[in-house]
Amino acid sequence: MSKQLWNKGFEPDKSIESFTVGNDRELDLRLARYDVQGTMAHIKMLEKIGLLSRAELEILLPALEEISRLIEEGNFKIEEGVEDVHSQVEFLLTSKLGDIGKKIHSGRSRNDQVLVDLKLFFRDELKSLSESITKLFSKLLELSEKHKDKLMPGYTHLQIAMPSSFGLWFGAYAETLVDDMQLLVAAYNITNQNPLGSAAGYGSSFPLDREMTTELLEFESPHYNVVAAQMSRGKTEKAVASVIAAVASTLGHLAMDVCLWMCGNFNFISFPDELTTGSSIMPHKKNPDVFEIIRGKCNRLQSIPNEISLLTTNLPLGYNRDLQLLKDILFPATTELKECLDMATFMLENIKVKDDILDNPLYRYLFTVEDVNNLVNQGIPFRDAYKKIGMEVQNGTYSHSGEIKHTHLGSIGNPANDKIAEKMQKLLDKSGLSKL
Ligand code: ARG
Repeated sequence: MSKQLWNKGFEPDKSIESFTVGNDRELDLRLARYDVQGTMAHIKMLEKIGLLSRAELEILLPALEEISRLIEEGNFKIEEGVEDVHSQVEFLLTSKLGDIGKKIHSGRSRNDQVLVDLKLFFRDELKSLSESITKLFSKLLELSEKHKDKLMPGYTHLQIAMPSSFGLWFGAYAETLVDDMQLLVAAYNITNQNPLGSAAGYGSSFPLDREMTTELLEFESPHYNVVAAQMSRGKTEKAVASVIAAVASTLGHLAMDVCLWMCGNFNFISFPDELTTGSSIMPHKKNPDVFEIIRGKCNRLQSIPNEISLLTTNLPLGYNRDLQLLKDILFPATTELKECLDMATFMLENIKVKDDILDNPLYRYLFTVEDVNNLVNQGIPFRDAYKKIGMEVQNGTYSHSGEIKHTHLGSIGNPANDKIAEKMQKLLDKSGLSKL
């Protein structure tokens, strides 16, 4: 006999069962600890409103703690014939405790149960993502400080343009991560609201104490309106996906720079041999496979908001089973992004930056704007100075001598790394994420 919670005495077709369950039996394992956490809060609340006795609660809580231990030890499984984590937890309780186990689902539906699991799960995923982002951020800022004075060519249209520096390059990605963190904080706030009590999506005739479960689960507030709470399935995922896509775009871009600048024609940076990969035929090759994989994964991760939009657009109000498929998209994505971030941080710990790149005559035209500006400083109008230097380049008589001196805020000589660090810290402090 199948073990569906909704079984009414007939055997559902096996192929229908496995098609609709899909990957839930595996993916839901990541929700297990949160399912137990949500259930504990729910039954404490049921006891408070008189739907469970004190004695029943005291039997149920240790049984749930035992399931919790099983989960932490990695011994929790969703059995054959059991649809999902919600059913498995209830099944374990009823097999152990009989009727008492059967009481826990009063005033709850799997619709708000999965929602609360997901909110708790994403809340933790966002915290851990913010840790990985912060680590990469700190490494980038540190490298920016360390290589502040090392100059490199800046490009526009991929043509040699103006002098830049490794200080600016590393620092640019650090500051961009602050913008990504702004999105993360927004997604965190959207996630941090309690949907429990919305039941199937329209509330319950029991006097559920939703403030109590909000407090127990440490949500910032309830998602008050029960319909809004249910609508947040899909919307929450979209918010999380936009964070993933934003960070992926920053990281993918950095990965592209690294691949390009490791190329022998540029040769600005390198990594120790053991962090590069070889070719099966060309004995000299040291390839940037790590950054190519990061680039590829990050490019792919940027499609997630679109996937979610397509999956959820125009769904009828209320729960629809399509929503289950959101897990297939997001669960691997958060892990993959974290792996990419941590790998990038590890690689950057070992990056070597070349000195004196700009001594190469290939880069002599980088300094034309410096020379135009020097003439302007001597009182020549900008357009005339531009023409003079332009003609020198044209005639092949241009040469540059002298130091470059950029002093304004955010420029080569003043990359404002302390301000960037402060901006990130303020953001983390305000959101509460720095305490985690
Ligand atoms: N596996 C389901 C999901 O992720 C759980 C909720 C099932 N609810 C239902 N009414 N069939 O959406």
